[in-house]
Amino acid sequence: MDFNLNSIPSQQGKIAIVTGANTGLGYETALGLAQVGMTVILACRNEAKAQQAKINILTQLPNAQLDIIPLDLSQQASVRAFAQQYRSQHSHLNLLINNAGIMFPPYSATADGFESQFAVNHLSHFLLTSLLIDLMPDTAESRIVSLSSNAHKFGKINFDDLQSETQYSAVAAYGQSKLACLLFANELQRKLTAQNKSILSVCAHPGVSNTELARYIPKAIQLLLWLTPLPFMAHSPQKASLPTLYAALADDVKGGEYFGPQGALEMSGKPGRAPKAAHGQDEASAQKLWDISEQLSGSNFEQIL
Ligand SMILES: NC(=O)c1ccc[n+]([C@@H]2O[C@H](COP(=O)([O-])OP(=O)(O)OC[C@H]3O[C@@H](n4cnc5c(N)ncnc54)[C@H](OP(=O)(O)O)[C@@H]3O)[C@@H](O)[C@H]2O)c1
Repeated sequence: MDFNLNSIPSQQGKIAIVTGANTGLGYETALGLAQVGMTVILACRNEAKAQQAKINILTQLPNAQLDIIPLDLSQQASVRAFAQQYRSQHSHLNLLINNAGIMFPPYSATADGFESQFAVNHLSHFLLTSLLIDLMPDTAESRIVSLSSNAHKFGKINFDDLQSETQYSAVAAYGQSKLACLLFANELQRKLTAQNKSILSVCAHPGVSNTELARYIPKAIQLLLWLTPLPFMAHSPQKASLPTLYAALADDVKGGEYFGPQGALEMSGKPGRAPKAAHGQDEASAQKLWDISEQLSGSNFEQIL
């Protein structure tokens, strides 16, 4: 599937939020959206890093329309403050890219008492979406893009110990959180369809890209990985952001679809439709996760739709 930002019509006047836009895939996604004329809100937890990212984008695209609103997904209070600030400054939202994420950190609980990968990667994005979706025009050009991963394939939603209180495996918790992102995207689309809404909920994964996501992997293991074929199978953050940009901007996208790179083992390559594992399509798990996410985030999301 050839996808080229140069063939996307101008998106001027439209507003996108990208979480974790200061580095890695979020940065490249923000740059791509600015390139097609969107106003991009950089939703970041570190003000200095966000300012630097803004400068870097403006160096490449001097006319880019960019703004920074602080967002720390490890605190639901910050998610609520973000939404409040956004709503005070903007009357509409066209695109929400739920990109920010962490991988394999040592166990920690967030300020709200949730396992950090579950909270940052899934639960806070669930809350953020619920707080903003009513600002989205009811058209198929309005989209929520959730970031999943090949890791969803080994992921399992451990409903008996969702917060890894009994036992913590950093890898299992990451797989759980990325499966949760996919199930959330699916369930949101089912609920939008049930309400006859045209807004699309879609999902994307980047394949493998050498970003700061590896920061929690011990340096010795990172060095060993360089001796494997993995680095040669990965692609640049710019290329890895294309499935997200495709899901966000292409005109042949349907709700509930999943996009990723088309190369060997879905690690790199041109963006296209990606297969979901069978458990990534399970409607009962998705509904159960939705209900729990409403409780844990104090959100009446379904009623908002
Ligand atoms: N890279 C890959 O190979 C790969 C593969 C599959 C899926 N993904 C997914 O792609 C997404 C982006 O990953 P990446 O590779 O670009 O990683 P990255 O380079 O580590 O960037 C992650 C971004 O998320 C932000 N973030 C982390 N915790 C946050 C919090 N509590 N509140 C707000 N922002 C927070 C980071 O901010 P700071 O800079 O302040 O830490 C950073 O901007 C993630 O969802 C990841 O799971 C990546």
